[in-house]
Amino acid sequence: MTDSSKVTPEWVRSRKGTREKIAALTAYDYPTARLLDEVGIPVLLVGDSLAMVVLGYPDTTSLQLSELLPHVAAVARAKPRALVVADCPAGTCLTPEDALATGKALVGAGAEAVKLEGGLEESGAIRRLTGAGIPVMAHIGLLPQRVGARFRRVGRLPEERERLIADARAVEEAGSFSVVVEAADAALTAEITRSLRIPTIGIGSGAECDGQILVFHDLVGLFPWFRPRFVEPKADLAGTIREAAQRFLAETQGKA
Ligand code: KIV
Repeated sequence: MTDSSKVTPEWVRSRKGTREKIAALTAYDYPTARLLDEVGIPVLLVGDSLAMVVLGYPDTTSLQLSELLPHVAAVARAKPRALVVADCPAGTCLTPEDALATGKALVGAGAEAVKLEGGLEESGAIRRLTGAGIPVMAHIGLLPQRVGARFRRVGRLPEERERLIADARAVEEAGSFSVVVEAADAALTAEITRSLRIPTIGIGSGAECDGQILVFHDLVGLFPWFRPRFVEPKADLAGTIREAAQRFLAETQGKA
């Protein structure tokens, strides 16, 4: 990004068909949001990956809305130029009315858009949110909120392929301004990217998307106990923290 104007869902949507790819990262706190904003990352997602990489849950399914909201507020307090998107936690959008209540709570905490996992079956929730003026980033492909979801590539079997194409069409028609495509077959994701009018933002779904999103902790090597295979970390913050703590320990104990 080159200018200093606030990033909006319309801006994200307008990247479709341009050469400027959308770079999105997760952020769960004030300093990270400020740092990422300072370098010009245009989309900050307060993702439900918070559950795993910050709160120590084994997966994202047990995250409560009440646990997510303070993190949305912390990111919003950074007053980023970036668009602040917040995830709808698992089980909070089971009906369109629930989705609206969740969306309102997230916007009340400072989100400027919400992300909702699910394709065709979430069309009603997406319509309810967008109809109430809450912009929606959809999320199709691998859906970690589904209990028992295993981390594996989707879209290779014929029925999965048809399903993914139908999901992509459905979330676009329901009014989403963009769609995250997670762990999907790269060739199919490229085909979907070419066929949609809204941008696709890939994670582990190949290079031919309109943007890419990563979990911040994976990017900077801050969660060394698990790293998805497709991520190439750009730093080793776990190593930096261990080294600093070891030096402090040694200095304090007079062993430096
Ligand atoms: O919560 C999350 O981190 C996500 C990923 C797609 C980035 O949803």
